[in-house]
Amino acid sequence: MKDIFKKQGYFKDKINPYELSDNATVELGAMKKNFASLDKDPYTSITNNRFRAYSNLILFPWERKLSWIPPQQKDGNLSSSYWQGNFNPEHKDAIRYFTPIDPTVKNSTLLNNIILHDYDLTFWDPAYSSLPIYVGVHFVKLAVLDKSQVAFSSPNLVHQDGEAFTFAHLFNRVNVRGGTNYISKPEWANHKLEQVDRCDIMEEFEMYEPFESYAVCDEMVSHYVSPIELDDKELQQGYREIVLIDFSLMHQWIK
Ligand SMILES: [Fe+2]
Repeated sequence: MKDIFKKQGYFKDKINPYELSDNATVELGAMKKNFASLDKDPYTSITNNRFRAYSNLILFPWERKLSWIPPQQKDGNLSSSYWQGNFNPEHKDAIRYFTPIDPTVKNSTLLNNIILHDYDLTFWDPAYSSLPIYVGVHFVKLAVLDKSQVAFSSPNLVHQDGEAFTFAHLFNRVNVRGGTNYISKPEWANHKLEQVDRCDIMEEFEMYEPFESYAVCDEMVSHYVSPIELDDKELQQGYREIVLIDFSLMHQWIK
């Protein structure tokens, strides 16, 4: 898989949580509970039902050790800060603060082993291969509560993330249409999907099963996920839950 990733700048896969933790059943339950109680993303519009949690950590490759960065007090709540430099045109150079991931989930063997599993598929310039790696973990849920609603990710454009590698693992998808992933050539970053020359779209796919996954090498491709809406409009709600894990060099994020 790593060879494919290096060659084309993205890949699709499916991981098995039961191979990554002996306690996966219990730990998946804790993740499910965390997704069910996510706070609304404070940086989206009132009408967009996007919910998220974020925590960050330092990965020490030579010890295969993860050290979670403690959240800070912000306006009376514990928060983890997230900065994408100029890469997200909707939040240029802004630090965003999110509710941290539940401590039980952060400390679970499952999440820690997913992070290490993903890290093992990344590839770095040899000059940097012995440095600590900065890792961001996002739990993102898009929900639609009636047939007129759509919910969308940020940015709602073809884009690059700014982090060297991003892995996306579907956690759950219930009664939604859309959420189509597109991988395209990097020069289409910050364009609307409709503007992209179809010849430059390298892959178009959807994820349905829990732990279907994909990854991108940020400098090699751009990517996009389309908004979601209810599939069966007679049912009351639908949602799509994703675990995003990004990896970058520490010095990239020193402001
Ligand atoms: Fe992205």
